[in-house]
Amino acid sequence: MRMLAIAASAAMIATSFASIAGADPIADRKQNMRDRAAQMRVLGPIAQGQQPFDATAVHAALDALNAAAKATDVAALWPAGSETGDTKSSPKIWEDMAGFTAAMDKFKADAAAAAAAKPADLAAFQAVFGPVAGNCGACHQAYRL
Ligand code: HEC
Repeated sequence: MRMLAIAASAAMIATSFASIAGADPIADRKQNMRDRAAQMRVLGPIAQGQQPFDATAVHAALDALNAAAKATDVAALWPAGSETGDTKSSPKIWEDMAGFTAAMDKFKADAAAAAAAKPADLAAFQAVFGPVAGNCGACHQAYRL
């Protein structure tokens, strides 16, 4: 079971890195976001008590979320010229690249802290998960159309 979870998260990490290497930054950043969302679909219901707390599954999903966060190279995924096309990225990103990068850095720091915490029970998990999850909506409100 544990081996399976590790294998699954290793595959997630490989997917995240592969998506960074592509030549289409809009497709790549969407894939990076979908990698995050996949982990949130595991973590969210557990945090809300809709699914039982399972330390192995939680740690694997937090590790995969952290890997997706680390793979988020803002300069490579939101280069100049990628503000048009099939994208919901707000023009505000390019007007305020420092603010956008700071918001992404905060998400990265919170994701790294949550993964490092290796929460052993629901309360410990909720304490580290709340700040991570808050980044998603905050950034989308500010920088997504
Ligand atoms: C610092 C900013 C930032 C953070 C933090 C962030 N996002 Fe995003 N997200 C964006 C932007 C910008 C887009 C629009 C991408 C585009 O269309 O170019 C986006 C798009 C998405 C999409 C749509 C992808 C698609 O296929 O079109 C999903 C799903 C998503 N984010 C999930 C998440 C989740 C889950 C989290 C938190 C774990 C998160 N995001 C955190 C900025 C952020």
